[in-house]
Amino acid sequence: MTRQADHKLRDAAFAALERSHAPYSGFPVGAALRAGNGAVFQGCNVENASYGLGICAERVAVFSAIITGAGTFDCIAIATEAEEPAPPCGACLQVLAEFATLDLKVHSYCRNGAEASWSLGSLLPHPFTADLLTTGTT
Ligand code: THU
Repeated sequence: MTRQADHKLRDAAFAALERSHAPYSGFPVGAALRAGNGAVFQGCNVENASYGLGICAERVAVFSAIITGAGTFDCIAIATEAEEPAPPCGACLQVLAEFATLDLKVHSYCRNGAEASWSLGSLLPHPFTADLLTTGTT
């Protein structure tokens, strides 16, 4: 993908951050996931007064892509207001691994200009995968 496409994805992640509902943590997050056909799906974290019901920005982006039938993904951008670039949490990495290959690019951007990138495989080298389910005893 082009630099321009990556900038578009970054901007979509920051636009999603503006929609964040994070009154409890005070930690707004935006995400933008790019499908193989170039379509972009946004997500933001959505917290709840019943704290455990909150959901991360990355999973909102994945689920909104899945409902459209989007199948392959090549990059996810994350935007935060943290001082250092934040990788997705472990739960989001596992959800990403369900729908993307381990070479998915993960870019994280901060409001202060700091950024970092990883591959999904470098952040989650041993995902739990569907083929493991066939080795159960039932
Ligand atoms: N959060 C995300 O949206 N993505 C992550 O990968 C890590 C954490 C959210 C969850 C919660 O609303 C807030 O950030 C603080 O943990």
